[in-house]
Amino acid sequence: MRGIVLAGGTGSRLWPSTISVCKQLMPVYDKPLIYYPISTLMSAQIREILIITTPSDQSLFQKLLGDGSQLGMEFTYQIQERPEGLAQALIIGADFIGDQGVALVLGDNIFHGVGLGHQLTSALDVEGAQIFGYHVADPRKYGVVELDSQGKALSIEEKPSHPKSQLAVTGLYFFDNRASSIAAQVTPSARGELEITSVLEAYLKTGELNVSVLSRGTAWLDTGSAESLHDAASYVRVIEERTGLKIGCLEEIAWRNGWITSQSLEELAKKMGSSNYGTYLTNLINSEG
Ligand code: DAU
Repeated sequence: MRGIVLAGGTGSRLWPSTISVCKQLMPVYDKPLIYYPISTLMSAQIREILIITTPSDQSLFQKLLGDGSQLGMEFTYQIQERPEGLAQALIIGADFIGDQGVALVLGDNIFHGVGLGHQLTSALDVEGAQIFGYHVADPRKYGVVELDSQGKALSIEEKPSHPKSQLAVTGLYFFDNRASSIAAQVTPSARGELEITSVLEAYLKTGELNVSVLSRGTAWLDTGSAESLHDAASYVRVIEERTGLKIGCLEEIAWRNGWITSQSLEELAKKMGSSNYGTYLTNLINSEG
């Protein structure tokens, strides 16, 4: 299975903060936002990741993340010329996906919780599509999925004004190999976008849309507004300070996954200089290496 992080868009809801720096490169407490969705794919054991960005931001992501080899991974980059919808990521990524399945994650979604990695790895061999529902107080600003009593998807709607359930569709989608060709047939919605919900509807029609509900113990944070970005930073800070463990620390996950050696981790730690992040990596090696 290959992974795609969609990290384009205008970030207009965060202007003026995102006029010169794109949203996914802004810090969420102690690291750039994009670290979190990348870490989600890594916790599902996905090592080959395509990062889709706007034309002007691509080089900044490359500067930050390189080719991934430092993490025992492979990062490739492609451009989305204009933000024409989430489903376009599957079209842009068609060659990259090749004959594999694909996990698409939105570059502004943060997932955190015990057992999440395990839940995600079980989606790796998905036949059809696998999405993750999350109970939210106000589902109107999300995709919303309705389930029957057996947990089977009945309907899926994008930002409904009268939601049929309180289950929001999170920005993490696992698809089998048909995703790109299905996305290529989607027509733009009333707001002119190729909606991911249309791709999911196609799977729903054939009874192949699987929905897992993330447990109450899992945190799902999106960062679309100044308020939610601030909340996410506070969440990360509280958990990290309380536990002494970092959320979304790519080097640590690569090391724990056995993708890099302790020696490589030490070199990465040195590159972080005297930052809190670098000290954390050094302490990891000393305490557990
Ligand atoms: O966060 C989960 C929600 O994400 C889902 O519940 C919705 O079904 C899904 O449509 C999406 O809703 P949003 O309102 O959050 O979508 P938004 O247009 O804000 O795009 C999400 C991210 O993807 C954002 O960081 C910008 C980026 N993006 C968006 C579009 C439309 C792109 O990189 N390219 C695009 O073409």
